[in-house]
Parts: sequence; structure tokens; C-alpha cells
Amino acid sequence: MLKTLELLRKRRSIRQFTPEPLTSAQMECLQEIALRSPSSRALTPWHFVFVTDTDTLHALGQAKAHGCAFLQQCALAVVLCADPQRSDVWIEDCSLAATLLHLGATDMGLGSCWVQIRERQHDEKTDSETYVRSVLKIPAQMRVHAIIGIGNPAEEKHGHTADTLPAERIHLDQFDPQRLLPTS
Ligand SMILES: Cc1cc2nc3c(=O)[nH]c(=O)nc-3n(C[C@H](O)[C@H](O)[C@H](O)COP(=O)(O)O)c2cc1C
Repeated sequence: MLKTLELLRKRRSIRQFTPEPLTSAQMECLQEIALRSPSSRALTPWHFVFVTDTDTLHALGQAKAHGCAFLQQCALAVVLCADPQRSDVWIEDCSLAATLLHLGATDMGLGSCWVQIRERQHDEKTDSETYVRSVLKIPAQMRVHAIIGIGNPAEEKHGHTADTLPAERIHLDQFDPQRLLPTS
């Protein structure tokens, strides 16, 4: 069996965590995973802020109204940001690094979940990027892409079974318009 497929069959987003901190070996592995992420033209536009401080995790858990409070229980939040002056495809580069962190955490027996920051609002006046920039003192020219919350899992989720995969999204040789879902 392919190792990648074996891992993907187990992969889920985990949002409940035990209070156990990560070991320094786990932290080092995750840092290496981030730095081994490929980037367009090898420009490496990303920076990764590894946050373990409880107060800072608490503040990050308020980056937006929904879908990020679980960061307050994570042992680690990896905040991905990038300099758009360095690469016009910084979003793709950050997305790939975020995916590798999520998969790497799964492979290490940890739970993790993506928190979308770009294009999201902290409140009516402040967008989530501006909020996270101020919490972490990220320079103004940097864009904040996403946060990957990581920790020891306190919930068990089964991988998606093969029959639930959206097989109609696969097209052979040509795009089959009959496979388009009706738009609501
Ligand atoms: C681009 C992207 C943004 C996401 N943003 C959030 C988020 O802000 N908060 C959250 O709890 N989950 C977020 N998720 C996780 C998805 O909700 C999750 O992947 C989806 O529900 C499928 O569940 P699964 O990952 O367990 O298969 C995001 C996932 C992706 C790929």
C-alpha cells in the first residue's frame, strides 16, 4: 500500500485536544516539515510563527467569530504568513506548507486543523489578518494566510470511507458537464 494513501485514509480535522504539550522532538519535526515545503521558483516567501504560549494561543482563538476557538486548547499553533513582494504565488506556497503540516501532524499521531485567516473578519471593523498581525507583531507588509492548530487528540474520528468520496469530480480525458453539481 502507498504510504501517502495510507496516511490520507486516516486524515481528519481534529479540534479537541488534551493539555499535553508537544515534545521538543515533535516541535523540531514540524519545523523541518514546514521548511521542506516546496515553493514556486524556490523563493520561500513564507514565515512560520510557532506559538505555544497559553496567553497568545488564547488571543489567536479570537481571530474570528467562528471556527477558531479550538486554538485555545491546542499545544501549538503554527501561523503561516508571507511577503507578497517576494512571490506572486505566496498563497499557493503557504497552502502547500499548511497541508504538509496537517498531514505531517497526522503521521506523527497528532491532531490538527486548519484555521482560515486570509479573507476573514475578526469583527466588523478589523479583518483577521490585521488582528493576528497585532497579536504576533508581524510586520505590516506581511500577509497572514492561515493557522494550523496542533496537539494530542482528545477526539477520535474515522477517516472518510471510500463510498463517501465525491467520485463524480474525476473526469477522464475531457470535462464531463453532466458531472457538474447543480448550483443552488
Ligand atoms: C482552506 C481551508 C480552510 C479551513 N478553515 C477552517 C476554519 O477556519 N476552521 C475550522 O474549524 N476548520 C477549517 N477547515 C477544515 C475543514 O472544515 C475540514 O477540512 C472539512 O470540514 C472536512 O473535514 P475533514 O478535514 O475532517 O475531512 C478548513 C479547511 C481548509 C482546506
